[in-house]
Formats: sequence, C-alpha cells, structure tokens
Amino acid sequence: MNLAKTDPKIYDLIKKEIERQKDGLVLIPSENYASPAVLSAMGTPLSNKYSEGYPKKRYYGGNQFIDEIETLAIERAKKIFHAEHANVQPHSGSQANATVYLALLNYRDKVLGIDLSAGGHLTHGSPVNFSGKLYNFAYYGVDSKTERINLREVEKIAKKFKPKLIIVSTTAYSRTLEFKKFRKIADRIKAYLMADIAHIAGLVVAGLHPHPFPWCDVVTTTTHKTLRGPRGGLILCKIKDRLDPKGKLTLSQKIDKAVFPGTQGGPLEHVIAAKAVCFLEAMRPSFKKYQKQIILNARAMADEFKKQGIRIVSGGTDNHLMVIDISPFKTESKRIQDELDEVGLYVNRNAIPFDKRPPYNPSGIRLGSPAITTRGLKEKEAREVVRLIVSLIKNIKNTKIKNQIKKRVKEITRKFPIYVDFQW
Ligand SMILES: Cc1ncc(COP(=O)(O)O)c(C=O)c1O
Repeated sequence: MNLAKTDPKIYDLIKKEIERQKDGLVLIPSENYASPAVLSAMGTPLSNKYSEGYPKKRYYGGNQFIDEIETLAIERAKKIFHAEHANVQPHSGSQANATVYLALLNYRDKVLGIDLSAGGHLTHGSPVNFSGKLYNFAYYGVDSKTERINLREVEKIAKKFKPKLIIVSTTAYSRTLEFKKFRKIADRIKAYLMADIAHIAGLVVAGLHPHPFPWCDVVTTTTHKTLRGPRGGLILCKIKDRLDPKGKLTLSQKIDKAVFPGTQGGPLEHVIAAKAVCFLEAMRPSFKKYQKQIILNARAMADEFKKQGIRIVSGGTDNHLMVIDISPFKTESKRIQDELDEVGLYVNRNAIPFDKRPPYNPSGIRLGSPAITTRGLKEKEAREVVRLIVSLIKNIKNTKIKNQIKKRVKEITRKFPIYVDFQW
C-alpha cells in the first residue's frame, strides 16, 4: 500500500489501532464497527471536492456526481427516519446540535435540557460547553428514587422557566424516552421540541424505541453509534415551523441555512457517501435483527451484573446501555477503566445520578452492547463478558486472574472476529 511507503509511521500506527480494535471487546455504548462498505466509501477522492451549498445549489463547479450522492443520502435518511426533511451535512453530533440552536434560538434564549449527571450530553447546556455559555439553560434530572426522568418534574420546571426549546436526549440513560409526553409539555408553554437520538438512532430506525416523529420539531443524531455508520451528524426536521407558521422561512429552510452558511463550510462528501451506505444497510432486515440482538444482549448484561451483586442505575435497561454503580468498591472508576483497558475490555467511566465524585473520576461505568453485537456475541457470551469485568473489578490487584481474563478476552475475539477481509 502507498501509505506504508509514504508515511510508515502513520501507516504503522493505523495498523496497531486496527489490531487493537480486532483484539479487544468494545463495551463503550457510543462506539461500533462500521462495515467495510461504509469504510470504503469514506476512504475515497470524494474528500477532495468542495461542494458548499446543497444539491443543484452549489458555489463550486464539478458537483454533478456529488449532487447525486448527497441527494441519495438525503432521500435514504428521510426514508429510514420517516422524516419530512433531512440535512446530511453536519460533521458531528455536536455540530448538529449547535446548528439547531443557531436555527431556533437567539443569544441567551432559554432552553430546557437534561442535566449531565442525569445522563445528558455536554451540548445540552453544560456550563463548560458553548451551549451553556451562549444560551440560558435550565435542567431537568432524574427522580432520586427511580433514577428515571420524572415528567411531572419536567413540566413543573418548564412552566416556571418557560424555555423556547425543550431538548429530549440522553447519552447515559438506559430507559425509554417518552417523546409524546414531552410534546404535551412543549405545547403547553409553546416551546420547540428537539430530540437528540444519537445513542438510540439504530433502535428507532428498527422500530424498537418510540419514534421522535411526529412529536418533535427537530431530531438530531450521530451516524456512528447504534446506527453503525461513519463518524458524523444528521439533522431531521419537519418542513413547517409550528411556532412561526407565517415566518419568511420554513423550519427546514432555517435548519439548512444554519448548517450552511451558518456553522459549516464545505461538507465532507466522502462521509456523506458513507452515510448513504449506512442508511441503505439500515433498510435491510438484517439491521432490524441486529438491533433486536443489541437489546437482548444489553438485558442479559444488566441481569448478569445484578446476579453478580452490582447495582445498575435505574435498576436495568430498556435500550443498548447501562451505567453500573461502582461506589461500593474501594477502587476508583478511572483505575478500573485503565485495568480493563489492559485486558482488552473497553468501557468508559461515567457519572451516576447525584454523583458526589468529580466527572474525571466518577462513581459509575457506562457499558453497552452495540459493538459486541456487531461481532456476533449473543446473550451467553454477553453474560460471560460481564463476569470477566466483575472478576477483574473484584480482584484488581491479582495479576494471575488478570492474565486469565486477558487470555479469555483474546479467545472470545478470535471466536467472534471483525474486519476479517479488511486488508491493511
Ligand atoms: C446524545 C449525544 N449527542 C451528541 C453527541 C456528540 O456527538 P459527536 O461526538 O459526534 O460530536 C453525543 C456523543 O457522544 C451524544 O451522546
């Protein structure tokens, strides 16, 4: 391969990272293995092309094939998400969210989002993020007993705070999101309703999680988590602006303008092509089967953690992820994550609701099933993986047990390989 000659250092590091991905089990719920077809669309000279604007309305020449590619991506996105309008250009989930705020809000406008420690994302108003700095956010959290979103509480805060936008979204929440009920609250205070379904997009497409449409005005997502596409963002929305029906621009026009020229320059058309491939893959019956297995595996994992005496936030999972409470253990979450790294089990530490510990070393670990399910693991193996994790947590100083776990992880990865035909 050319790269090996041109830049042997980068070539070699890429090789090592591919081996790391092959040899370990990814339990980080926001990661997955994109298909070789998706990867192949990304690594193309499409990356060379400037195509600011939209199909048939570009600022540069030579976009005839790019237009066809982007139009296909848009049409497929609309189809799989039952959406009236799709913008496939956001470079990432964060950028998709920034775009929606730019389209719907003015500086310092009020927004109601979910608290980070209750399972929200930085772009939902964290004070250290642009969202918390530019807009006036209030937060809803989870109930202290059930650790689930309490809609009565959401309504109370919404009525008092009167936000212009309500965000329904989570990044570390294992329960079903009730978009319809959020819409009732939004209607009462005449607010826009946005869902960020970055985590659950695959489940939504497969019909295994309630759909944000018709309840939400705008839906954002990433394309690389349960959806299993390339790293990127996507915005879906209604055409009409419910709160500004007589305005100069429709809602979809506002969104498009906020993407370009609002927040981005040239779109990543090689990634858009890969998004189109991923949307096509998501139309196949095998995708629904895969999403069903994600849920079955997550349930088996949660059940096994409970059997092993470990508490799961909210008591279980309805989706692809769970957060376990490791506060009863003496070992800190950062150390546990590092030790798991060494045996090839990849997780991420995460806050639990009402966490007293700092975000860098919180009391929880977030785990999910999308990547191991892509490898082909089923409930039996998912349970074994949990037992390996618990065994390591409970025997953190025991090198012999650690080596045994490492060996077993390797055996599982050999039995369930990924990227077998991927040449590097
Ligand atoms: C709910 C949610 N929204 C947005 C994002 C941001 O996506 P990105 O990392 O592509 O910017 C994430 C990332 O984890 C997320 O979980």
